[in-house]
Amino acid sequence: MAIISLINRKGGVGKSTISINLAAGLATHGSRKPGSKPVLLIDMDDQLSATITAMGGGFDDKFIPAITAENNYPQALENGYGASESLIVDSLIPRNRSEKVKLFRTNKARMESLEAALKGREDPAFQLTYFLEPIRDDYSYIIIDNPPSAGMLPMNSLVASSHVLIPIEPDGLSLIGLADILRMVENVRKTTNPDLEVLGIIPSRYRMIRRQSRDVIEDMERMYGHLLLPYVKDLADISAATTAGYDVFSFCPEKSQAYRCLSNLVDAVLGKLGAA
Ligand SMILES: Nc1ncnc2c1ncn2[C@@H]1O[C@H](COP(=O)(O)OP(=O)(O)O)[C@@H](O)[C@H]1O
Ligand SMILES: [Mg+2]
Repeated sequence: MAIISLINRKGGVGKSTISINLAAGLATHGSRKPGSKPVLLIDMDDQLSATITAMGGGFDDKFIPAITAENNYPQALENGYGASESLIVDSLIPRNRSEKVKLFRTNKARMESLEAALKGREDPAFQLTYFLEPIRDDYSYIIIDNPPSAGMLPMNSLVASSHVLIPIEPDGLSLIGLADILRMVENVRKTTNPDLEVLGIIPSRYRMIRRQSRDVIEDMERMYGHLLLPYVKDLADISAATTAGYDVFSFCPEKSQAYRCLSNLVDAVLGKLGAA
């Protein structure tokens, strides 16, 4: 079992998009194997992008009960009483399969105050770890989408995770941001979670026509070649799927660039985890 955090302090780099499609891809992969466990998606960002896509783009009836739940994920996390089954619902992804990615019922207002609430507790960085302890073995993979920050929420995710994926939009300043994140991961590894492993760096929203992007990818290959995963191109189909509340695998034809990019990524992640 692997707990994989998607981390970058910058917004708009594809964390939520990759979280959704990785969760859907891993669920599809798993559902081909008899007796395999489900995938759980955890949304630590109060913008709830991953939750909204997973629940049908916000237009489906299923979405309202999931984000207005009284007994909900941020409240449970903040009170440290573990996750009861009633907090976890089936999402709508992967759309084209019956085995769905699992998701927490959540609450936007409580998500917004979660960081402050955690800071008021003892061991503030360990709350997600404690919360997941009793349920983690019920899942094959747990994917954690994170807010664009380096605060207490991503810190909880890093402490609870076995692996980190870093989506990076290749532009002039992204290498500086990347060095920052790798330092943050190293720090967590030294102080609290020695098992934490960087699974890979994902050049994301890649536009081949940009000379600058190609240069940055070359630099990344030189500096972090062993960590570089297949890049995800910037494609209208990918954002259209996300907005419509679909995973790319259910929204795009198998031969499309969007499908191929994301299935290459899922395969590479499985390969690195030794689970292909
Ligand atoms: N590979 C891609 N191609 C096209 N649009 C993308 C791609 N990845 C993300 N986007 C779009 O960019 C925006 C930000 O992506 P998102 O995944 O929400 O980033 P983050 O979670 O890092 O803030 C969204 O509107 C999303 O649809
Ligand atoms: Mg996001």
